[in-house]
Amino acid sequence: MEIYLKGIKIAYSGISVTMQITIFAVLLGVIIGLFVALGKMSQNKVVRGIFSVYVEILRGTPLVVQVLIMYYGIPMLLLSRGFEFKWENPVIAAILVCGINSSAYVAEIIRSGLQAVDKGQMEAARSLGMNHVQAMRFIIIPQAFRIILPALANEFIALLKETAILSVIAIEEVTRKSMLWAAATFDAWPAYLGTAFVYLTITIPLSRIVAYMERRMAQSDRG
Ligand code: ARG
Repeated sequence: MEIYLKGIKIAYSGISVTMQITIFAVLLGVIIGLFVALGKMSQNKVVRGIFSVYVEILRGTPLVVQVLIMYYGIPMLLLSRGFEFKWENPVIAAILVCGINSSAYVAEIIRSGLQAVDKGQMEAARSLGMNHVQAMRFIIIPQAFRIILPALANEFIALLKETAILSVIAIEEVTRKSMLWAAATFDAWPAYLGTAFVYLTITIPLSRIVAYMERRMAQSDRG
């Protein structure tokens, strides 16, 4: 029994790194994602094309490959061009790469949220004399928000789990802590059971919150 508690304790020692990276990455993802969503809805075909390629590349390559490119690839590229560059803090590289990765998913969440609002809403708002910006601000965005918010919370949960692969660049987040301990003691079973447990203590409450948000929003739709 004691060994299991130890496994949980070790995994927990990485939780603040995991949470920190996830929170900042999702924030970054929302900021870039908003911009990308607008780009993908642009009237201009070229702009739309550029942002579509951005999303395709980020969603079409494994996150672990993106991490390796960011952490090892880019410094090497810069070095070959004569610039000395090394990530002083791998956590910064992690936040950047996870944030950029997340922005592709967030962009699609925002775009589909906005497009899910019935076209008639815009037409009705315009016929009441609102201009496009007012109609977006007072009619479209509030309705899109209730579609987007639970999906964003889901993105947070997804990214939280995905940060486990940051162990490949030796960031001592939850999974890496357990790996180190398992390697030192051979206690692989309690180590990784502890890892799973620690993720669940975060993901279960969060997915409860998402379910609650979805129920609330469905209610106000009917009301
Ligand atoms: N598992 C996928 C990958 O390796 C998803 C990555 C990140 N997911 C996310 N929602 N940001 O590419």
